[in-house]
Amino acid sequence: MSKDTNIKQADEKSNNSWIVKFGPSPTRFLYKTFLPKTQGLKTHTPRPRRMVLFPILDTMWTKLNEYAQKVTLEHLRIVLWTVLGSSVLVSLLTSVAMMNTTLKKIEVYNHRTELAHQHELEYQRKILLGNNGKPSPMAAKVSGLTPSEIRKAESPPKAPTKPPSSYDEDDSVGPPKAPATFGSSGPSLSKPPSEKKKPPSGFSSPASSSSHAPSPISPPSSPWSSVIHSPSSFSPDSASSTGTDSSLYTPPAGEKKEQRFPKVIIVGVSKCGTRALLDYLALHPNVITANKEINFFTNVTMYNKGPEVYRNSMPFSYSDQLTVEKSPDYFECEMCPERIVAIDKTIKVLLILCNPVDRLVSQYMQLKEKNDLSGVPMDAFEEWAVDPMTNTVRKTVASIRTGMYDQYMTNWFRFFHQDKVHVIDGATFIKDPVGEMRKVETFLEIKHFLTSEDIYYNSTKGFHCMYSRIAKKSHCLGPTKGRPHIKVLPGVYQTLQTFYNPHNARLKSYFNYQMSWV
Ligand code: A3P
Repeated sequence: MSKDTNIKQADEKSNNSWIVKFGPSPTRFLYKTFLPKTQGLKTHTPRPRRMVLFPILDTMWTKLNEYAQKVTLEHLRIVLWTVLGSSVLVSLLTSVAMMNTTLKKIEVYNHRTELAHQHELEYQRKILLGNNGKPSPMAAKVSGLTPSEIRKAESPPKAPTKPPSSYDEDDSVGPPKAPATFGSSGPSLSKPPSEKKKPPSGFSSPASSSSHAPSPISPPSSPWSSVIHSPSSFSPDSASSTGTDSSLYTPPAGEKKEQRFPKVIIVGVSKCGTRALLDYLALHPNVITANKEINFFTNVTMYNKGPEVYRNSMPFSYSDQLTVEKSPDYFECEMCPERIVAIDKTIKVLLILCNPVDRLVSQYMQLKEKNDLSGVPMDAFEEWAVDPMTNTVRKTVASIRTGMYDQYMTNWFRFFHQDKVHVIDGATFIKDPVGEMRKVETFLEIKHFLTSEDIYYNSTKGFHCMYSRIAKKSHCLGPTKGRPHIKVLPGVYQTLQTFYNPHNARLKSYFNYQMSWV
């Protein structure tokens, strides 16, 4: 009998015996595929392994069929209930585990929100409350908050709060000990005399002002005015600021160094390059800088002690040198412009502005670094800045409001004539600091001194560094300046950009400043 005939018979046999409850054996397909078959005249012989495996599979299949025939309805019911019961149990356990995780997440989120809220309240107290602790119209205008929201800010925070967003450990004399705005920090603090009077005549509201900066008002009369330029009683030579090189700078003959009120204040904006601006200025022989942020006008304890405290915080200088201080917190402080002109109406103001979205990212990086260190990690930037549910920018976050430059500038130009304010484009300043510093020198009416010898690009730092011809030393800004930034999701970046667009546009239309990033 030929092999073909054998297979045919085996097939027929299998057709009879293998068509059982579970259908034909799967090995039948394998037999058909792999067992010897004729292709024309050529016959394939099966491999030995298949000859062993297939019969085993067949046997197993037959056994299974035998058992299947014995299965009763009762068995099926038991199996069904077991399967159902175990799936219910598994789903229950899974739900409990998921609920547990969710509850934990909510707890962490609430904790973080609470901390962030307290931080916001502290900040709002600092910049928004008016003289008598009641929200001023400016506060409402600037913040975009409702009066009840602002009033909420009056209640003191329960837990230790983080420093305000613009606070920079590197720069500050110390964290603010009390809220910056007068009248909001308790009964023990008396108001400075200058605050008890009404706004001076000529005070114009932003709505009534022209599209350009309003004319300066005469600075409010204050008992403080009498102290301006009076010499300090502090021993002049007991402390020194920068060393001097006689070839670069010769002090006025017979003069001793004194602590003097600043002639120039860098009032902001934080995270736009204020430290670099101050340090570049310090390279100039006719400039003496206060190294730390003094925050005199926003620190209620200091301010209430009177202007001598301010002068005594200043470095020693000669009369032909300009004392410069920088405190970026002044920018958002409603009372600061008025307080500054009360000290000296000839003070000049430097303001550095950068793309508010990039500024926000820079601020976020700074806050994130601090929060990570304190063990309370921050939300992702995208979530922190934009509400994912509504896709709206979180206007209540103080750091976001900082970027609405036009609103704060309106307040500054009520007290400062535009020729007393010099605005620097932060983006151009990073690329061409020497060029921008030249403009600053012109504005401050000091000799053109700074060149690329003093401010040079350092590829390791990725920013410009400094060489002091006076001290004969080089230095770059520390690691908290020029941090790497996260890459923001393009959609969120665009949402923020759209939010700031009208504010950016007003820099040109209201104040006539054309920024490279607008
Ligand atoms: P990043 O640290 O986010 O890059 P401020 O001194 O007001 O806090 O601003 C810090 C920002 O100044 C830095 O933000 C950086 O972009 C900018 N900057 C400008 N010139 C710089 C310099 N020479 N070195 C470091 N940072 C500089």
